[in-house]
Amino acid sequence: MAPPKLQMLFYLCCCLSLAHPFSWQDLNPVASFKPSVWLYKIQALMMAASFGHAKIPKGHGPYPVGCTDLMVGYTNESTFLRLYYPSEVHGHSDTIWIPNKQYFGGLAKFLGTKDFLGTMLWYIYGSTKISAKWNAPLRTGKKYPLIVFSHGLGAFRTIYAAIGTDLASHGFLVAAVEHRDGSASATYYFEDQHAAELGNKTWLYFKTLTWEEGKIIRKQQVQQRAKECSRALSLILDIDQGKPVKNELGLDFDVKQLKDSIDRDKIAVVGHSFGGATAIQALSEDHRFRCGIALDAWMFPLSDDLYSKITQPLFFINSERFQTYNDTKKIKTFFLPGTERKIIAIRGSVHQNFADFTFATGKILGQKLTLKGNLDSNVVMDLNNKASLAFLQKYLGLEKDFDQWDPLMEGDDVNLIPGFPLDTTTTQASMDK
Ligand SMILES: *[C@@H]1O[C@H](CO)[C@@H](O)[C@H](O)[C@H]1NC(C)=O
Ligand SMILES: *[C@@H]1O[C@H](CO)[C@@H](O)[C@H](O)[C@H]1NC(C)=O
Ligand SMILES: *[C@@H]1O[C@H](CO)[C@@H](O)[C@H](O)[C@H]1NC(C)=O
Repeated sequence: MAPPKLQMLFYLCCCLSLAHPFSWQDLNPVASFKPSVWLYKIQALMMAASFGHAKIPKGHGPYPVGCTDLMVGYTNESTFLRLYYPSEVHGHSDTIWIPNKQYFGGLAKFLGTKDFLGTMLWYIYGSTKISAKWNAPLRTGKKYPLIVFSHGLGAFRTIYAAIGTDLASHGFLVAAVEHRDGSASATYYFEDQHAAELGNKTWLYFKTLTWEEGKIIRKQQVQQRAKECSRALSLILDIDQGKPVKNELGLDFDVKQLKDSIDRDKIAVVGHSFGGATAIQALSEDHRFRCGIALDAWMFPLSDDLYSKITQPLFFINSERFQTYNDTKKIKTFFLPGTERKIIAIRGSVHQNFADFTFATGKILGQKLTLKGNLDSNVVMDLNNKASLAFLQKYLGLEKDFDQWDPLMEGDDVNLIPGFPLDTTTTQASMDK
């Protein structure tokens, strides 16, 4: 270990005693985060990470997984996504989890901490890999169902790899969109062709909002996000039809492999938190999405009458306590007679169980930081992925064996709660902060 790292560790050890329990419900999700609490949290997180790198689980399906990034077009209106796909060969897992230092800087900004903490996070997590072969050839000769995935507030396209790789290993193409609405910790684009050729990135960071701004802007953002999901879908369907597109990132993955690779009738939208809201918004606007899964959806940005506009099947998978009384009330409106709706909660899980950061630390610190709940993060992810696969088979009409997990969709498991999450009254109180 290099001396600077030792020094850093010493410094972090000193701060560790200041770390105290934290929960996302303490936060006002519309506005900004409590800086001092986060500062201690993130220091403790880094400290934990120094003792063991993140172990993001690999996909449990039969196919090896490939991964690439795709950016088409210029400016903030370009489409940017990470693709997870079934691949041809078992290869070395060499896909970098968070590929640019700026994402760590963005996380630091989102968490309301100093910039150097982003640098330290980069130092610790910058070389972490996920279980996917970078730019591996697509497994050809088959048509795959397609999932468009939307990330949460302060997240970005790469940190749902545990979900993306598992779906891809079961034979899905997964397009994880990076949103340009100011809700990602960081993202980038190229101003024009010249900038793309030079690799001159324009970075766009998380936009902090006041409560009053949030009330208006989050509702605009969810609409932009849904449009970005639809644009990503159109792009992939164009590629499927053989339309030539240029990947501005100039990667080794030949996009033409994706021609005739999509099962065009079998498309779903999935998202977490703000992305869960985005998935619901996208369903209401774009009927090419045949069904949707909302993971611990943050319902606030959605308009009150949206429930009447969604005819497709919709599955709510929740953590035990994230959703507020108002969230739950809004979710209930979606359960109209004659619609296909499912809802479960995972017992002993927390909001961050759906994103990869749940795998970034050991158990004790993970719980302290509420990146982990009482239930093992691998068990939570497994339940989430299997229940999702069962739902996707049923409502996309897949010929697979995911129906073995049908009982999970109904909440039939010792670690699942059928129906709405518990404690809606206590979380109501915490929203008043
Ligand atoms: C893109 O950026 C321009 C100029 O900064 C801004 O006016 C516009 O609203 C942005 N568009 C989107 C889709 O964010
Ligand atoms: C990169 O792009 C920015 C803004 O678009 C521009 O101001 C800058 O001159 C560019 N840098 C180079 C090296 O071209
Ligand atoms: C919950 O909804 C009610 C009425 O719809 C609203 O008055 C209240 O401010 C909401 N609470 C929060 C914390 O957003």
